[in-house]
Amino acid sequence: MDGPSGSGKSSTSRGVATRLGLRYLDTGAQFRAITWWMLRHGVDLDDPAAIAAHAGDPVLESGTDPQAPMITVDGTDVAGPIREQEVTSVVSAVSAVPEVRARLLREQREIIGAGGIVVEGRDIGTVVVPDAPVKVFLTAEPDARAARRTAELAGATVEATQIDLIRRDKADSGRAAAPLTMAEDAHHIDTTPFTLDEVIDQVVTLVEKAQG
Ligand code: DC
Repeated sequence: MDGPSGSGKSSTSRGVATRLGLRYLDTGAQFRAITWWMLRHGVDLDDPAAIAAHAGDPVLESGTDPQAPMITVDGTDVAGPIREQEVTSVVSAVSAVPEVRARLLREQREIIGAGGIVVEGRDIGTVVVPDAPVKVFLTAEPDARAARRTAELAGATVEATQIDLIRRDKADSGRAAAPLTMAEDAHHIDTTPFTLDEVIDQVVTLVEKAQG
């Protein structure tokens, strides 16, 4: 499940995994957790070489229960702090660094293993699991995205969220390493006119069809 922030990826992925009894992996949370570690350790995030040098240092543990998402860094639960503005405003710089992506790609593939999992991110259908049996690319109109994202974040305003979304879209789509793009064989769903349950229904139907 790929798409920009606020497109409904997280809620849809968790809902689909819960409905189908599958595991769930939030790869955005992994990039955020590494960013949180870099901030805590004073790594200069304007310097890609410094980020690359520390890419392998944080020890991550990613839970796969869609009803109780969990992520720790060096044993510390960071599920709350990684959603703060401090992390959100700089995560694109960290996720553009190839060494960070290479490290997470290995861990993501290990967790995914033989499958049975809903994985959400930006490059899942294009890079992480190019042979995934079902690929979904979610989008939504900018106003809907900003409103949803604001509701998820602590202390954010719609205006600030919208500016941040536009900046991150540009960074995530324009970077050289695994940019946000739709896989050729992905199903595109614009979630703007639908409720969460309707989008979950649509994705569940796609999975059931793929299973024959
Ligand atoms: O989905 P999110 O907003 O939590 O993701 C945080 C950042 O991580 C996002 O700005 C881009 C990056 N990311 C990525 O580069 N590749 C992924 N597979 C997932 C997230």
